[in-house]
Amino acid sequence: MTHARQHNIQVVAHRGASEDAPEHTLAAYQRAIEDGADALECDVRLTADGHLVCVHDRRVNRTSDGRGAVSALELSDLSALDFGSWKDGKDSQEAPDWDRESTSVLTLERLLELVSDSGRRVELAIETKHPTRWAGQVEAKLLETLGRFGLDTPPPGEPSAVRIMSFSARSLHRVAAAAPDIPTVYLMQFVTPRLRDGRLPAGARIAGPGMRIVRNHPGYIARLHRAGHRVHVWTVNEPEDVELCARLGVEAIITNRPKQVLSQLGRD
Ligand code: G3P
Ligand code: CA
Repeated sequence: MTHARQHNIQVVAHRGASEDAPEHTLAAYQRAIEDGADALECDVRLTADGHLVCVHDRRVNRTSDGRGAVSALELSDLSALDFGSWKDGKDSQEAPDWDRESTSVLTLERLLELVSDSGRRVELAIETKHPTRWAGQVEAKLLETLGRFGLDTPPPGEPSAVRIMSFSARSLHRVAAAAPDIPTVYLMQFVTPRLRDGRLPAGARIAGPGMRIVRNHPGYIARLHRAGHRVHVWTVNEPEDVELCARLGVEAIITNRPKQVLSQLGRD
């Protein structure tokens, strides 16, 4: 994997080490840190009582033993659910031995504690989910929470350890206005006509194309680079996709398999 070794790509654990452990749980993020991931990706949603929790879907049905929308449940309701056993026997070769806390609903605050206790630099790529429904409340709560951990402003001369991602340009615009030192990543599923020339919406600094864009339009990555944007690609799980990303010189790979990707990059 010559190209992969030549380039210093950041490896980001998507929903934690989500192939080996239930996504968005403490177990998945602990595993990602142990595996050596450079950064952790997580999706955040607001509960009915205003807590930010790490959950991908609008509802908890797929990833827990409960039912209902995160936005309609309180943190105490979510805390009673098991976010681990849906994964038993799926994907992972290992028998799960996670304790209660490791597979409970994960608050953003608990994830930030984990990172701060990790003893090394672990960056965070936090995605706002359905921010339009909450008209700025998700971003406000997110920045307030980051502020409590000193993560809303990087130390002078140092890069931010946190970036905020979204498919919503409006959400990124809000973040950029309130916290201009936090990098923003515009996630894209398709190259729409407005994006074709490599420019991003106002407030977005980094491009976040899906792997399908990279495979189908590799020339677009060069265009994004020429326009001055770093490129963070999701979700990159297959070795040939890692190789393609490396060849194209992308800056970050977001993957469910941080251990395997690090190994392919010669960093194990
Ligand atoms: O890292 C970006 C990626 O997570 C976006 O898609 O659906 O996995 O949140 P999704
Ligand atoms: Ca995500």
